[in-house]
Amino acid sequence: MAKYQIAWMPGDGIGNDVMEAAKIVLDSMKFDATYVPCDIGWDLWCKEGNALPERTIKALEGTTCGLFGAITSKPQDEAREELIPELRGKGLVYFSPIVKLRQMFNLHTNMRPCKSYPGNPLSYRGTHLANPPVGGKVSDVAIDQVIFRENTEGMYGGVEFFPLPEAVYTALCANPKMKPWKDKGLENVALSTRIMSKQGCVSICRNAFAFAAKTGRERVTLIEKPNVLRETGGLMTRCFREVAKSYPAIRADEANIDAICMWMFKNPQDYSVLVAENMFGDIVSDLCAGLVGGLGFAPSANLGDNYAVFEPTHGSAPKYAGQYKVNPHAMLLTVKMMFDWLGETDKATRLEAAVARVIREGTVKTYDMGGKASTLDVAKEVARYAG
Ligand code: IPM
Ligand code: MG
Repeated sequence: MAKYQIAWMPGDGIGNDVMEAAKIVLDSMKFDATYVPCDIGWDLWCKEGNALPERTIKALEGTTCGLFGAITSKPQDEAREELIPELRGKGLVYFSPIVKLRQMFNLHTNMRPCKSYPGNPLSYRGTHLANPPVGGKVSDVAIDQVIFRENTEGMYGGVEFFPLPEAVYTALCANPKMKPWKDKGLENVALSTRIMSKQGCVSICRNAFAFAAKTGRERVTLIEKPNVLRETGGLMTRCFREVAKSYPAIRADEANIDAICMWMFKNPQDYSVLVAENMFGDIVSDLCAGLVGGLGFAPSANLGDNYAVFEPTHGSAPKYAGQYKVNPHAMLLTVKMMFDWLGETDKATRLEAAVARVIREGTVKTYDMGGKASTLDVAKEVARYAG
């Protein structure tokens, strides 16, 4: 039996393309694993009314961890229209299978590194600034950030209502601030909640600080909006400050979500570890990915206490599906994160070095980097150096 059982979840669209690329590299590195194919994604919703079938959950339970490509998600109305006729009108509700998976397996921590690799023509250069950092030359701005996104709570908790049930409405009316919606009629009001727990806030902050301490990073920045979101933002801020006390050597500072979007654009090199609740983490991780060349370079890990699912931050990009056009580096760096989690440190180091080398050499690159190579060409080049 192989050392590891990996749940293999290409999902939708380019998820298949990049997972094929991952397989090339895994095989070349002689990774000792059995890959367990698992159904997940849009097709399953359309044909079975469930994007994350029970059989997949069962299969995942027997694996070491999961590797995931990408998922297509659509709003409720569109989702219902794409169901096969037999399943329509049955009140089926679409939910994002990756969000469900994170919650079901309590993958509470979403870790998303964004690093500029020298030679990447798409990396942030700061040339738009009056005083560009370090002369504003290509690759001069070294960005090395890691986002810790709380992965199971907040606006992603799925506690939502439309129309508003009477009981919920009545309970909300205990708050005088409900006044503006009182006369609008229940059928005209939609509600999404942002529920956060002290346990969730403390856990994500602890993981961010522990990572900073372990890797010698000097700064951890909380991203919130406590001046407006007083209760949830306030709770997260208090937890952050409490956890920070145990790490006196690390600079702990706080930024509002709107302000960080501006500062990140001006001085991205100043940030190191970022910590945020679910939705702000989602937003900021795309922003940070943009600074290091786009979603083609942004890996991520959904980490629980004993299980993890690794997925690139990017989506399924349906218009490129099956064309082997997209950049596989995000997926390959995701595999690197999986190696790290498994304790396969040597493989992790070799793989990252190989990705960095292919980027630096700049001869085999996908269209986004100005090249003509296919997804699989890039994977083969990385495999040549990593294998
Ligand atoms: C991400 C994605 C997902 C999210 C979507 C596909 C549900 O944007 O992983 O960042 O919002 O978490
Ligand atoms: Mg996202």
